[in-house]
Amino acid sequence: MSKESSFFIPRIAVIGLGLIGCSWVKALRSRGCVGQVSGFDRNLDSMQEALALGIVDHWSEQVAEVVVDADLVIISVPILAIRPVLESIAASIGPRTVLTDVGSVKGAVAEAVDDVFGAGFNRFVLGHPIAGSERSGVSAADENLYCRHKVIVTPQEHTDPAALRMVIRAWQAVDADVESMTVAHHDQVLAATSHLPHLLAYSLVDTLANNHENKEIFNYAAGGFRDFTRIAASSPEMWRDIFSANREHLLATLDLFNKDLQYLRAAIAGNDTTTMMGVLTRAKAARDHFTKILARRAFVEPMKTSSIAYLAAPGQALTGTFRVPGDKSISHRSIMLGSLANGVTEVSGFLEGEDSLATLQAFRDMGVVIEGPHRGRVTIHGVGLRGLQAPPNALYLGNSGTSMRLLAGLMAGQAFDVEMTGDESLSKRPMGRVADPLRLMGAVVETAEAGRPPLHVKGGSALKGIHYDLPMASAQVKSCVLLAGLYADGETSITEPAPTRDHTERMLRGFGYDVQVEGNKVTLKSGGELTATSIDVPADISSAAFFMVGASIAPGSDITLQHVGINPTRVGVINILRAMGGNIELLNEREVGGEPVADIRIRSAQLKGIRIPEDQVPLAIDEFPALFIAAACAEGETVLTGAEELRVKESDRIQSMVDGLNILGVKAEGTHDGAIIQGFGGNGAFGGGEIESHGDHRIAMSFAMASLRGSAQIRILDCANVATSFPGFVELASGAGLQLSVQEEA
Ligand code: S3P
Repeated sequence: MSKESSFFIPRIAVIGLGLIGCSWVKALRSRGCVGQVSGFDRNLDSMQEALALGIVDHWSEQVAEVVVDADLVIISVPILAIRPVLESIAASIGPRTVLTDVGSVKGAVAEAVDDVFGAGFNRFVLGHPIAGSERSGVSAADENLYCRHKVIVTPQEHTDPAALRMVIRAWQAVDADVESMTVAHHDQVLAATSHLPHLLAYSLVDTLANNHENKEIFNYAAGGFRDFTRIAASSPEMWRDIFSANREHLLATLDLFNKDLQYLRAAIAGNDTTTMMGVLTRAKAARDHFTKILARRAFVEPMKTSSIAYLAAPGQALTGTFRVPGDKSISHRSIMLGSLANGVTEVSGFLEGEDSLATLQAFRDMGVVIEGPHRGRVTIHGVGLRGLQAPPNALYLGNSGTSMRLLAGLMAGQAFDVEMTGDESLSKRPMGRVADPLRLMGAVVETAEAGRPPLHVKGGSALKGIHYDLPMASAQVKSCVLLAGLYADGETSITEPAPTRDHTERMLRGFGYDVQVEGNKVTLKSGGELTATSIDVPADISSAAFFMVGASIAPGSDITLQHVGINPTRVGVINILRAMGGNIELLNEREVGGEPVADIRIRSAQLKGIRIPEDQVPLAIDEFPALFIAAACAEGETVLTGAEELRVKESDRIQSMVDGLNILGVKAEGTHDGAIIQGFGGNGAFGGGEIESHGDHRIAMSFAMASLRGSAQIRILDCANVATSFPGFVELASGAGLQLSVQEEA
């Protein structure tokens, strides 16, 4: 039996028989959580109706009478009516009676409780359900009104914990999600999210209605007017009370809005289209984000899914000619450098995945006007190296290590402080590797324990150029130091232990910034400028890699992947697959915007196990999950060494892959810096089973490809993060020959 269903309140009194109070009582009754209910309303009809509908068991015209003996009194009357109600019942409540309300303003109610019952009265629990309906009154009462809706309680220091527990459980019993905050915070948040929008809706309708041409206006008022002003049809008395009870917070948020409105007005008056686009694109991005949250947290339906799983049935050959999404590394850098350039940068082929979108949003948060993305096209109105503004909040970078590490370098050179946070996986990843060199340059960087995010970068530090010997082969660390070097006094140089992706160096040059490369040393000086350019982002070889492996292992496959970036620092996957006997042809090789590109044709081949050359490891660092699948299908043993970096990616990729391979019947073991995999060879196949992807996009997609040589269904858990790097993976893979479906996990 669940906690909620064992919850029971013998006697409830409800004062104010409207939608909100009656729905709560009706919901408690339907779940068997209440004994007797007595009710009061100033309207006799409502009381009679509530009795007839079985919402109350009795009613009285004397409000004081209904609270006698009640264990819980629910006050659901308009805000300014609460004080007189309290005065009328003060003498009649029992010594253990708990009281609660449902009002939209908490400060004014707290004050009334103090005045009437005396400061320190501890059995009044202030509450506010964030739910409602177009309909009102007893007859609209709905026992599911609060399902998966938020209810905010605002306990005070003196609130009795047992009283608080009772009210919280009474909300949880009707399936509400209860959250707690302070009275002041509640009133401030609600002023912005609810009270101001209502005020604006009423005010706009009033303005238009007073216009002498109002008839015209209402005749032609279409969607915009209708949508924006729907809430102006709510109860005027209720909103008068709320505006007046939350005066202070409402005025503060109204002043802020007024200021922003004047800013937009000035932009329109001055025909400043960049500023206009700034406001509009930022607002659209915020609204789109909100729509997604709403979709996940439906107001009507309980949320059923928290994650998705892939079901991969044994597949056939891969065939076709297609293009995988844009390169993630280049997409990140296009936003960063485009934002810091002088002038307008046009990007095409941009990856609309969650990781690169996190970078895009971070720069919007720092005041850069960015149009799009729309079908891979992004227009960035660069603000120059010194033009970023302090973001209003912490920069949230989701799953994206590249965003956080590269931004750390850029943020070190700014005049303002920044905090950077991420999701559960990013919060576990090492940031000491970027904090260390930045500190040597004079930056003030703080991390959480053991060098993990969140990362705080202090503004206004005078950076000095350094020479840094990279302790590990990492393009992210190299790029971080180079980007900080743009702001550091003098020269900044780096030597790397092995070549890593050089997109930062190439793109800086593309923006007209001088970068010297000699052997394994990269050098730049501060004092230059970036000049806007256009960037054509090639398809991501890391995304192509899944299909390269898939086509290699599935007999009869023949695919061509178009316009794939084949930067020499990224082609390890091609070199390794070829060394294993893969049949890979590069066609139509060309250079696009400083990056080499080709169409890649892959046909199936019997692979053989190899010892992977260590110099290929940094060149294929993201492709090992897919290469492990290739190794499993190969004839003989494959040995990987020198790849300890795989342990600190989105998951510990050595462990995730070895565990998954073992589940599918493949002999594989992890070593401290790699793995040894015994391939099943030509006639073998993967078994079926359930694989944990650990929320790592590349683990998920690799095991999806394994199904091409599967003998039974492979179920891959926690695949939502595939959207970080490969939006549309399921559709593209299914079109090419995978038998892949998506299952929503409860
Ligand atoms: C990246 C560098 C690599 C890679 C990551 C993207 C980049 O990380 O794994 O997916 O864009 O610079 P490391 O620098 O940690 O090797």
